[in-house]
Amino acid sequence: MTAKTIEEKEMSTATAYKNIRTATEGAIAIVTLNRPQVLNALNTELMTELADAMQAFDHDEHVRVIILTGGERAFAAGADIKEMAEESTVSMMLRDNLAIWDRIRFIKKPIIAAVSGFALGGGCELLMMCDIVVASETAQFGQPEINIGVIPGAGGTQRLTRVLGKYRSMEIILTGRPFSAKEAFDLGLVNKVVPVEVLLDEARAMATEIAKKSPLAVRLAKEAVLKTYEMTLNEGLQFERKSFYMLFDSKDQKEGMRAFMEKRPANFTGR
Ligand code: HXC
Repeated sequence: MTAKTIEEKEMSTATAYKNIRTATEGAIAIVTLNRPQVLNALNTELMTELADAMQAFDHDEHVRVIILTGGERAFAAGADIKEMAEESTVSMMLRDNLAIWDRIRFIKKPIIAAVSGFALGGGCELLMMCDIVVASETAQFGQPEINIGVIPGAGGTQRLTRVLGKYRSMEIILTGRPFSAKEAFDLGLVNKVVPVEVLLDEARAMATEIAKKSPLAVRLAKEAVLKTYEMTLNEGLQFERKSFYMLFDSKDQKEGMRAFMEKRPANFTGR
């Protein structure tokens, strides 16, 4: 590829989306929510672009981990209130915007959320669809939907309760009060809290670590952990066991175990 074509390719990637930015750094893809004028409010166009980009990276063999981030002031301040304000039950059902969110739910590669500033309503629900959450000390979380006469609609009542338990989740959802990164960490909603200046570096470091593993094993591990929410213990254990056995037909399993015995780093190819 000539320098010009590379540049053109980068330009076409850069201009393809209006509300997000995308980039790749080796095996790591970075998707940045980019509607700063409205604190990254999640309107239909942004969510469609986000789902498109996530799916494209999920299908891109060179990408092993996706980082999802926003701006310093806001990860996302929720679904776009101005877009929904005058909707009716019927129009909401017919448009069924939340079906777009399902496309993110089914991404197979690990997603690391790097969260700074407001992560409210749909913003908080979006990060709960990610697999690991790194937060800046300035991040602020919450499910404030109750303050505008609705309830969380993109999984908040379900995912927050699974993480926090009934009583803490109930309080947060019924009062709509915001909570800090420290509280989110204490509640088990985020993996790590770091100064805002190093937020992306921290997410990159985790992504780099995961990108070194076998992508097949990573994919099955993610799937198996998520099954916890959908299956009985017995079904989940069966699922895990079959996935474990399945990996023994992969080159990565042979490579990983041989590398251990030969006392060298493994080179995983995803085959
Ligand atoms: C549309 C939004 C928005 C939102 C902020 N803005 N949040 N626009 N939808 N969710 C816009 C404001 O209207 C304003 O634009 C600009 O962003 C800056 O916001 P300000 O309010 O001026 O900033 P500030 O005073 O610093 O307050 C920040 C804030 C507040 C505390 C985050 O903006 C806020 O309370 N936002 C709404 C949070 C919320 O209720 N989220 C849940 C939404 S419902 P203008 O043009 O006026 O200057 C939801 C349901 C999810 O998420 C379920 C289905 C997906």
